[in-house]
Parts: sequence; C-alpha cells; structure tokens
Amino acid sequence: MARAQLRSGLLRTAGWLPFAAGYLAAVGLALARASRGEATPGDVLLVMVLSGQVNALVAQVLQVANRSATAVRVFGHLLWLEDHAREATTRAAPAEPAPVPDQLRHGIDLESVSFRYGRDDVLRDVTLHLSAGSTVAIVGENGAGKTSLVKLLCRFYEPTSGSITVDGVDLRRFGVAEWRRRLSGGFQDFARIELTLRESVGIGDIPSVDDPVAVAAALDRVRAELPVGLEQQLGQQWLGGVDLSEGQWQKVAMARAIMREGPLLLLLDEPTSGLDAHAEDALFELFAGLAAEAATRTGAIVLFVSHRFSTVRMADHIVVLADGRVVEQGSHDSLMGAGGVYRELFDIQARAYR
Ligand SMILES: Nc1ncnc2c1ncn2[C@@H]1O[C@H](COP(=O)(O)OP(=O)(O)O)[C@@H](O)[C@H]1O
Ligand SMILES: [Mg+2]
Repeated sequence: MARAQLRSGLLRTAGWLPFAAGYLAAVGLALARASRGEATPGDVLLVMVLSGQVNALVAQVLQVANRSATAVRVFGHLLWLEDHAREATTRAAPAEPAPVPDQLRHGIDLESVSFRYGRDDVLRDVTLHLSAGSTVAIVGENGAGKTSLVKLLCRFYEPTSGSITVDGVDLRRFGVAEWRRRLSGGFQDFARIELTLRESVGIGDIPSVDDPVAVAAALDRVRAELPVGLEQQLGQQWLGGVDLSEGQWQKVAMARAIMREGPLLLLLDEPTSGLDAHAEDALFELFAGLAAEAATRTGAIVLFVSHRFSTVRMADHIVVLADGRVVEQGSHDSLMGAGGVYRELFDIQARAYR
C-alpha cells in the first residue's frame, strides 16, 4: 500500500507540474502585458480565475469517466449473473422428467458421489443412505465437505460423478424448482432479509407470505420472542425500520426455514452457531419434534450439520466426514463403542465442558 501510495503521489505530482507551469506562465504573461500597459489588472484577475476553473472542469470530467467505468464493470457483473441464472435453470431441465414424490418411503441414497468445485475433489466416493423419517447428523472438521454435501442435496451443484437417488429415482430427473419446493433449509450464513417481519419469515414459503397466521405459527414454533409486530419493517436503513439482535435475526431465519408445510428434506447447516448451547439444544429438540411429526406424514428426513455433540448425539444416524470421505457412520452408541474418530472428537468436547 505504501508503494502504491507513493506511486500515485508521484503520478499526481507529474500531472500537476504542467498545470502549475502553464498557470505561472499565463499569469506571468498577463502581468508583463499589464506592466507594459497592454492589459488591465482585470485581465490578470481573469486569467487567474479562469485557469482555476478550467482545472476544476478537467478534474470533473476525469471523475465522471472514472465513475462510468465502474458502472460498466458493475453492469458486467449483473449481466454475468443473469446469464448464469438462466443457464442454471435451463441446464437442469431433465430429459426424462419425473414427478417429485409426495412422500418418502425408502429415503435418499448417495452412490459413490464425488464432487469438485475446481481441481481437487472435496467429496470422494461418498456412499450414504438417508432413511425416510430419520434425523441424520453430519460431523467433521472445517473443510471436510459437510456444506458441499448439503449443496448437492439442494442441487446448487451436480455431483461430478456418482448419483443421488430419491426413493430410487435419480435426483436429476426432478425439475430443480419442483425439488426445491420440497426442501427447507437453515444455513450458517443466514440472510438478514430487511422486509417487514411478516415478509422476512413468510418468503420461506412464498404462497403463504401474506398469511399472518402461518407466519405467526412459524415464529411461535421456534419460540421467537421478538419485540416487534408482524408488520414492522426490519433494518435500520429503512424509514421506521428497527434492527434485531444477532440471536433474533437467527430466530427469524429459523422461522423462515420451517415455513414450508410438508418438506421431504430439512437441511440445517450450522444454523445455530450464534446461539448458546442451551438454545441450540432446544432448537434441535424442536426440529426433531417437527421432523417426527413430518416423518409420519411425508417420511421427511432432517439432515443437520453441527459442532455440538450434545445435539449430534440426539440424531438417529451420525455420519463422520473427513477430507471429503465418510470415515465412520452409525448411532451415537455404536460410534462411541467403536472408539474411532467420533469418540475422540466427542471426548475432546466433553473434557472442555467439564
Ligand atoms: N464455492 C467454492 N469454490 C471452491 N472451493 C470451495 C467452495 N466452497 C467450498 N470449497 C472448498 O471445498 C472444501 C469443503 O468445503 P465445505 O463443504 O464448505 O466444508 P465444511 O462445510 O465441512 O466446512 C474446502 O476445502 C473449501 O475450501
Ligand atoms: Mg460448512
């Protein structure tokens, strides 16, 4: 930065020098003419004032040109984004479409799924069965590939190789929009959507966004005790808007996540990292309850990523990911009995709390 500042300083000086020279020369010339009686003192003043104005004008032109260049660049990003969105929706149009089932009977299977964003595989040969009606926890260190797995299930990306099937039907045969309509999700980097409270929660299920009863029920279910009414504008930058605390925003995001009735898959990717351990346990117990209820109706699966083992141990099935591979899986008791990675991670955390 110091080097860049020095460079910019030198360039500026170099730019100013011709102006200063020209300015001095012009004023000198006018003075000389005035002293010989060929010009008036008013002429000298005029030269001084006009030179300053010309300079300001040139600077302004440069600034406008600069701003236009920035606008063109931003517009370029926008065009890219629109192309990308269009491509993402058309690319995914299935050749042999299949309807998304109303209910899960068997569950979701990943068969030798590998995935990479760029050069290196971040998921390697992942084979998993997610049973209909079960709660599944994914654990693993940062960068293990947990979020990537969640993204594949949302079809934000397609597997590089291998397949994902839903009750035996390849996930790629569903229309992306139809599949996503049956997903609910809560994510670590949850969005603070600055609409009214009703809208901010309600857009979790667009058709019910105008239904205050449905929105209030969702807020109720996550036990959000917010100091504002449903029609309150959120976000301080808006007229009459109020800001919420981190935890309150999180509750709004969680309520949004459970707006959809009858999802087939509930995905929770560390959505509670800003909450304390008690609040997280309470939320997951709540989700487990919702899931159990949904499971009897639609065979829904709850898949959650968490670092807190007090929560993880409540899951029916636990999957340990390391470096993109499934290294262990089973129930809490069986994994503790096996004495492997899971046991080790669990013990480390248990010691920290003692
Ligand atoms: N959009 C992306 N582009 C390229 N690499 C990514 C992207 N997202 C994640 N990764 C890489 O993929 C690996 C797995 O990341 P992630 O699935 O987010 O792990 P986790 O959720 O377990 O922490 C990491 O090495 C990460 O750097
Ligand atoms: Mg992650």
